[in-house]
Amino acid sequence: MRQAGRYMEEYRKLRAQYGFLELCKNSDLAAEITVTPVERLGVDAAILFADILLILEPMGVGLEYTKADGPVIRNEIRSRTHVEQLVEFDPQEALPFVFEAMRKCRAALGGKVPLIGFAGAPFTLASYLIEGGSSRNYLNTKTVMYSNPGAWRPLMERLASLTAQYLNAQIAAGAQAVQLFDSWAGCLSPDDYERYVLPHTRATIAGLTPGIPVIHFSTGTGGFLKLLRAAGGDVIGVDWRVHLDEAWERLGHDVAIQGNLDPGALLASPRDIRRRVEEILRRAGGRPGHIFNLGHGVFPQTPVENVIAMVDAVHELSAR
Ligand code: CP3
Repeated sequence: MRQAGRYMEEYRKLRAQYGFLELCKNSDLAAEITVTPVERLGVDAAILFADILLILEPMGVGLEYTKADGPVIRNEIRSRTHVEQLVEFDPQEALPFVFEAMRKCRAALGGKVPLIGFAGAPFTLASYLIEGGSSRNYLNTKTVMYSNPGAWRPLMERLASLTAQYLNAQIAAGAQAVQLFDSWAGCLSPDDYERYVLPHTRATIAGLTPGIPVIHFSTGTGGFLKLLRAAGGDVIGVDWRVHLDEAWERLGHDVAIQGNLDPGALLASPRDIRRRVEEILRRAGGRPGHIFNLGHGVFPQTPVENVIAMVDAVHELSAR
């Protein structure tokens, strides 16, 4: 889950003083924001405070986070010429603040909990580049994907190799696990996922430094979990639109699973939250290889006490 964010008072205070990109580029503040939820919530892992879209900025597309619309890409990528105009760069040199924050977090955490690095998967990154921001139906993305292989293929290949390089640099800077976010893959049919996306996600994961666990996250993909597994990852993330035990059955019990509480459930009462946690743990059946998590990020409207109630319930009920 995205565990830092506007539902936490500590984060809102910093955001009143700094822009989102400013926070990401200040490695002291980014490290502080990473560590705060570990202390405040008592979660079992830290995830670096950064964003999947940071890697797009050095490409020269004009990344901004606006108040009303969320992330915006000024120069949308919709043709082969656009793809060819993307700036080539080395993530290690272009995003030094990410790796500095990583090293500072490792030092601040002092081995108490592991630190997770992350990046966007090629499809989700491509959707932002093509749409120019978030989207409801991904129609521009699908238009390029179906009708313009001369743009789609080199774009996905570029994103796959860049993402592998970026994650490997995070691993070198101290990431103890990495998570690949394909947040919007659920807008695709299984056949389109297999044909247009899977080979590129597979290339990304195959390019990662061996020995570091890889979490493959997506939402809305309950209908093609087997394909996600085929693309790779030691842990497959599932959202709340599928029962955890059914998902695990379909994936096979020889792969780990992450999930799958609806972040919207954190708006219910702490008693209700506890009941829902219990239900997910019941479905996990005490098997090894279940990472309890939300199926997506925490909504800004969520009372922080409810997030703490969830973490406490997971600890208490899974210790039984
Ligand atoms: O716990 C942590 O510190 C995690 C940090 C984290 C952020 N983004 C910080 C962030 C992580 C893991 C992400 C990943 C991310 N970013 C994803 C994949 C995961 C998912 O939730 O699907 C995606 C799709 C993005 C793109 C993105 N960044 C969007 C759509 C938005 C705007 C919507 C929103 O929730 O505000 C962002 C901004 C963003 N990234 C915020 C944070 C804390 C909020 C920015 C603010 O302070 O206004």
